[in-house]
Amino acid sequence: MIGVFDSGIGGLTVLKEMMYTLPHENFLYYADTENVPYSYKTTEQIKEYVEKAVVFLRNEGCKSIVLACNTATNVTIEYLREKYDLPIIAIQPAVKVAFDNNTENKRILACATPVTLKADRFENLINSLDIDHMVDRLPLPGLVEFAENEQFESPEVLKYLKKEFSKFNLENYKYVVLGCTHFTYFEKMIQENFPNLQPVDGNEGTARHLKNTLAGLNLLISTVKPTIRFVESGRYVKDEARFWRYLDR
Ligand code: DGL
Repeated sequence: MIGVFDSGIGGLTVLKEMMYTLPHENFLYYADTENVPYSYKTTEQIKEYVEKAVVFLRNEGCKSIVLACNTATNVTIEYLREKYDLPIIAIQPAVKVAFDNNTENKRILACATPVTLKADRFENLINSLDIDHMVDRLPLPGLVEFAENEQFESPEVLKYLKKEFSKFNLENYKYVVLGCTHFTYFEKMIQENFPNLQPVDGNEGTARHLKNTLAGLNLLISTVKPTIRFVESGRYVKDEARFWRYLDR
């Protein structure tokens, strides 16, 4: 079984990709519903919440854990990898994907939570690619709340996006990095309303990385009828239909 963690429903967008890439694996999805959104929490609080989830998933028998939450990754990944010996795979904002495809040399808009954009790990990522001069940062914590409130297509979301994007001259941009897993729910809305922006996320890369890592460790299985289960802040979810609905989006 593979454990998947997010502060809320955002990581389901990653789970969907992983179910496609690894159709014969069992998954246990952990949403920290009691504490979402992490955007306004301290790094100490986030560390505590994520470690609690990792311990839960490990105790349930997960062979590997995916942090399907950029915010959690940025604050905890080094600490967790040092402390726990199971493979922990982590998503990170897809700035490299944007950069590699940026043949027109346009500016890149990196959107994430304020915690991610302020993290050393994110800075290091930008510096390792030497692209600080072409990246602008835009925190969009409002999208996390819209998603958690199931407001995926409301006029309020569009108003929020228009206001936030109006801080930039969009003519100069092509790739917009969705550096928070909750933002992927708004990919279509961005494409439809800001046609010169091309959203990219780290979901596919994370699924591929998970597959390669497990294959390298000989940990892949091929269950005929895989199970997908859901946990909210340490309690198994009874009404799974809600989670399946998000996966169907
Ligand atoms: N989904 C999370 C991420 O990828 C964080 C959302 C939040 O709790 O603020 O960054």
